[in-house]
Amino acid sequence: MKIAVLGTGYVGLSTGVCLSEVGHHVICIDIDDQKINRLRQGISPIYEPGLEDLLTKNTAAGNLQFTTSHQEGIENAEVIIIAVGTPQRNDGAADLSYLLQAAKDVSAHLKPDSIVVIKSTVPVGTNDYVKSIITNHTKKPFKMVSNPEFLRQGSAIKDTMKADRIIIGSEDKEAALKIQEMYRPLNVPILMTNVRSAEMIKYASNAFLATKISFINEIANLCEAVGANIIDVANGMGKDKRIGEAFLQAGIGYGGSCFPKDVKALLHTAGLHGVDFSLLRETIAINDEQQKLLFTKACSRLKQLKDKKIAMLGLSFKPETDDMREAPSIKIAHLLHEAEAKVVAYDPVAKDNAKKILGDTIEYASSVDQAIENADAVFIVTEWNEFKQLDLTEVTKHMKQPIIFDGRNCFEENKIRACSKIEYYPVGKPAIVVGLDT
Ligand SMILES: NC(=O)c1ccc[n+]([C@@H]2O[C@H](COP(=O)([O-])OP(=O)(O)OC[C@H]3O[C@@H](n4cnc5c(N)ncnc54)[C@H](O)[C@@H]3O)[C@@H](O)[C@H]2O)c1
Repeated sequence: MKIAVLGTGYVGLSTGVCLSEVGHHVICIDIDDQKINRLRQGISPIYEPGLEDLLTKNTAAGNLQFTTSHQEGIENAEVIIIAVGTPQRNDGAADLSYLLQAAKDVSAHLKPDSIVVIKSTVPVGTNDYVKSIITNHTKKPFKMVSNPEFLRQGSAIKDTMKADRIIIGSEDKEAALKIQEMYRPLNVPILMTNVRSAEMIKYASNAFLATKISFINEIANLCEAVGANIIDVANGMGKDKRIGEAFLQAGIGYGGSCFPKDVKALLHTAGLHGVDFSLLRETIAINDEQQKLLFTKACSRLKQLKDKKIAMLGLSFKPETDDMREAPSIKIAHLLHEAEAKVVAYDPVAKDNAKKILGDTIEYASSVDQAIENADAVFIVTEWNEFKQLDLTEVTKHMKQPIIFDGRNCFEENKIRACSKIEYYPVGKPAIVVGLDT
């Protein structure tokens, strides 16, 4: 099929690359000419494992093209996938301005009987709204399909090629079947629904996962208070098939470009319809507090943070991505900065994006060794494999005080106990102190 994808962000680019990999002819469109120039040279503007290989392969094979021209991209496409951003507005609602502009761009160039697919995460009713906008701007017949995306950054290619499910929402059977056909080579379970259910499935899924995270984080806080161990508790809970093991890893809260904004947008939608979804308000409030956990623990242990050197390991909101949107590291960095601590951070890939948000609030190290040298404490903020594999004996040797606040429970107890001197503060488990009087 001839497919146009609007937006070459995490979702649009991954989708475009994967659809070209399974044999479709894909043209990706973006308004950002720097991104398109880099993509034309085979360089991915985002860090995503496996993406660049498929990008170069399919560009060379002629299946994948990039353009800033909506006309060039859309005029021959049978299917037009909109994957532009839907960020958060100040009132919590989804900002649909990019989407509405994209709808106008599509209507200016679409060919008759093409199918417009909304992949961006949009509040219930948005597909209908976009349909009315396109209808107002063109006389050509077209069809609409809602096809929300569930990929996770850091495993976007794998998630697209081997998705748990694909949701196709449409009131037009022929259009739904055509999109089913488009995805057939992926051999993934497909669920057909009406448009509004498809829109709701996306928000309900993200809100549920965010709530699961806030729930396990509250259980972790309670474990610390009562002397239980969150790893054993989560393990014992997760073995129950009704609960499942995923999303039971306690830590310092969720972040990223989706959970924070999607939970708030769903809460906003509920409010518009007179539904008091108080559970979601709690999910958000718990997460806001949880992001402060390492800072609170450090204040209580070190008393005074002024002029203390804190090494922050990890900046991105999760491993295997350079995305800094709503990362817990942002709040932690600001709190430490206000407390006049000297923060030196290291992240394997997110440094450039972090600089755009945090500027000179913190210093940026180019290695773990540089960050931890002479530090009063280490904060583990993102669970990169590089950090999980650290030799803690070596790490603590180079610190001024061997104090580690681990926000992601990266280490097994025996590894910590093998150190000659360490004070280790995990989440939801008792602290471990070796070779020191505290
Ligand atoms: N990032 C994720 O993990 C993820 C997962 C599932 C769903 N989603 C949803 O998918 C959507 C896209 O998310 P993202 O993270 O890929 O966004 P992003 O911000 O990384 O990328 C959006 C891209 O769209 C481009 N764009 C904006 N207006 C355009 C237009 N008129 N024509 C062409 N290009 C245009 C921007 O320049 C940008 O490159 C959002 O609704 C998001 O909620 C994201």
